[in-house]
Amino acid sequence: MNVDSISIAISMTHMPDSRNWFTSMPSLRRRHFPRTRADGKKIHVGGLQLINFASNDYLGLSHHPRVVGAAQEALGRHGLGSGASRLVCGDAPVFHELEQALAEWKGYEAALLVGSGMLANIGLLHALAGRHDVMFTDRLNHASLVDGARLSGARVRRFPHRDTKTLEALLESTEARRRIIVTDGIFSMDGDMAPLTELRHLAEKHDALLIVDDAHGIGTLPDPRGACAMAGLSGHERLVEIGTFGKAFGGYGAFILGSQPLIDGLRQRLRTMIYSTALPYAIAQAMLVALDLIREGTLTARLQRNIGVFRRCCAGIPVMTSETAIQPVMLGDDTRALNTAKKLREKGFFVPAIRPPTVPEGTSRLRITLSSHHEAEEIRGLAEAIRDCLHE
Ligand SMILES: Cc1ncc(COP(=O)(O)O)c(C=O)c1O
Repeated sequence: MNVDSISIAISMTHMPDSRNWFTSMPSLRRRHFPRTRADGKKIHVGGLQLINFASNDYLGLSHHPRVVGAAQEALGRHGLGSGASRLVCGDAPVFHELEQALAEWKGYEAALLVGSGMLANIGLLHALAGRHDVMFTDRLNHASLVDGARLSGARVRRFPHRDTKTLEALLESTEARRRIIVTDGIFSMDGDMAPLTELRHLAEKHDALLIVDDAHGIGTLPDPRGACAMAGLSGHERLVEIGTFGKAFGGYGAFILGSQPLIDGLRQRLRTMIYSTALPYAIAQAMLVALDLIREGTLTARLQRNIGVFRRCCAGIPVMTSETAIQPVMLGDDTRALNTAKKLREKGFFVPAIRPPTVPEGTSRLRITLSSHHEAEEIRGLAEAIRDCLHE
């Protein structure tokens, strides 16, 4: 071996390949992907059958016979995949029917279907803004909004969670002609609601667009049309709203709502829709039925009842202030959160421990999600089990 080949061999040993590319992850922060199988409100984990308090299937629609039946019927008629982007040959009348039904129900001029919430948010923010624009984003926004803002190339100014005073100061100090305020409607890890009335006011005062991702509000709030409807904002000309099918609708996919010209513009520019395979037709057919069931209101009323049951029985538990289906229990420390989640599994309940970087340092927590198909007894049992775990 000559000197050159020896030095190449030495430097090669330091070159990461696929086996040692990700070596720097501390073990306590590793994400665990437990092998689970959700089955209605039950979940199977490592040979145990537990009551699932982790799912965003807030209304149990993923297993509703009418929703599943609609998908099965459409599968029989149209097969599984749509075969291409809508732009090429993946379009179908059911997509237009669903877009129209969503727009009418939510009180907007138009809607556009997208493959998932992640794709909707990344594509939307990328389509709306460029490097001459400024985005004002709540610090606790969902990762899809964080990534969308970053990928858009716009200047990003983050404001502390729900802090409209700081936001106003940022808006005042910004010269850019095009400004966009971006927020979750219901925050996915805290369960609290964005101050939408104040945000609308600031958007009007400072000539900004307001983007609200209401993935967790639609179908779950006292007005099932979600946080924007509750704040009387639906259809506002400065508002663009995102909803997902993966949560209260019990399916998969997402939709963007706004004015007709905005949606027409997105049809031309939303790269995550234009360059991506259309949703399976069976999903769209099933989501039409899910929409009917949500509109009817009984399931959301049951969920609201269950939120009340939990709030009434959570004395002694460090539960955060939330009136929604997301009820976080703040534990602070990573190990405490992981250990409590483990103990709860031993008592028959599946509740995930959420740790940084998903939430800020020092705010590890249990994230309880309630659904319409939990029984009051099961919810009280969970509260009792959490109290026991915390005192053991
Ligand atoms: C607030 C919020 N937006 C968007 C998404 C992404 O939606 P999807 O799962 O359809 O990609 C999620 C999912 O967890 C979410 O919580």
